[in-house]
Amino acid sequence: MKVLVTGGLGYIGSHTVVDLLNENYEVVIIDNLVNSKIDVLDKIKKITGKDVTFYEYDLCEKEKIEDVFKKEDIKAVIHFAGLKAVGESVLKPLMYYKNNLMSTINLLEVMKDFNVKKIVFSSSATVYGEPKSLPIYEDFPLSTTNPYGSTKLMIENILEDLYKSDNSFDITILRYFNPIGSHKSGLLGENPNGIPNNLMPYIVRVATGKLKILSIFGNDYDTVDGTGVRDYIHVLDLAHGHVLALKNPKTGLKIYNLGTGLGTSVLELVTTFEKVTGVKINKQFVERRKGDVAACYAAINKAKEELGFAPKYNISDMCQDSYNYVKKNKDI
Ligand code: NAD
Ligand code: UD1
Repeated sequence: MKVLVTGGLGYIGSHTVVDLLNENYEVVIIDNLVNSKIDVLDKIKKITGKDVTFYEYDLCEKEKIEDVFKKEDIKAVIHFAGLKAVGESVLKPLMYYKNNLMSTINLLEVMKDFNVKKIVFSSSATVYGEPKSLPIYEDFPLSTTNPYGSTKLMIENILEDLYKSDNSFDITILRYFNPIGSHKSGLLGENPNGIPNNLMPYIVRVATGKLKILSIFGNDYDTVDGTGVRDYIHVLDLAHGHVLALKNPKTGLKIYNLGTGLGTSVLELVTTFEKVTGVKINKQFVERRKGDVAACYAAINKAKEELGFAPKYNISDMCQDSYNYVKKNKDI
């Protein structure tokens, strides 16, 4: 079966493409390289020994998507492509709304025209805003605090309305918690542009000496040690969730949390990182970061029951693999 993976050269997309190829799917990628590098394509081929068809196209150009659907016998789509930096989205909201919404609407229109009705969409735990209690279930109220998050919620709404209008669509919305880690080969991983905003990319750069000190945003939260708690999930487990979503016999519109269901504080993550790598992390406590919630972790019962989702990797594996990636890639 031929699957179109948009954003397939990005962090989560590339790991998912590897998993798909290992499961004998044929893969076509569309990516405009706005936040990824072309050498990822060779790395995917090196890991899997398999070929991928790649189109360096921007999804905001609808005729480019049509071109791909004309040439390829696409049966399903996994839609990762999008801009994802929260801070940047606050500074450049129009760029985020334009890119994330226009690309998705174009894609859905072309899918409808070509009668391809199966799509898996990358949403985020950010759509839960400040959760009313923990763990977070899929039916919790939704709200957002920044334009990036709003694009995710708007796309969820678009998909729901599309499904109401045409229930031959088969739509899976996956709400990711905090993906970290990298491929075991050290060839694929997360390499954000500029100074990272997210915790693990920052920790690994302090470990390699590229950055001097980790600022921990707040130590006065009502959590186990006062620092923020999140549900970190290994990107390999997250990637596999997409393969399970494609294989899911249940059709219709489905929404699943993908996390581990376990909360880890910033200090717990740093301590584990130090233990498994043997590298000490310079750190200081600073003010809370605006917009952060104290704690956020998923209930994953639904993904477990309906998808057979069962994360394999623990926090130590995630720390080891994240570090392995930066050690093997000196330019990071
Ligand atoms: P990423 O930036 O590494 O990958 C996204 C890819 O999409 C990039 O390769 C980029 O070049 C491509 N892209 C962006 N706009 C495009 C366009 N208009 N046309 C074609 N290609 C385009 O991000 P990621 O971490 O792999 O995230 C993948 C998806 O998951 C995103 O939609 C993101 O919002 C969502 N998500 C990510 C996280 C996370 O922590 N990484 C958490 C929740 C949700
Ligand atoms: C952030 C985004 C969220 C997005 C997710 C994945 C914000 C407010 N939220 O989530 O919308 O879906 O990334 O891209 O930006 N921390 C530090 N020091 C750092 C970095 C982070 O202490 O240098 C702490 C944070 O306060 C938080 C935890 O580490 O408690 C995780 O932060 P991060 O990796 O940025 O993820 P989220 O805040 O969960």
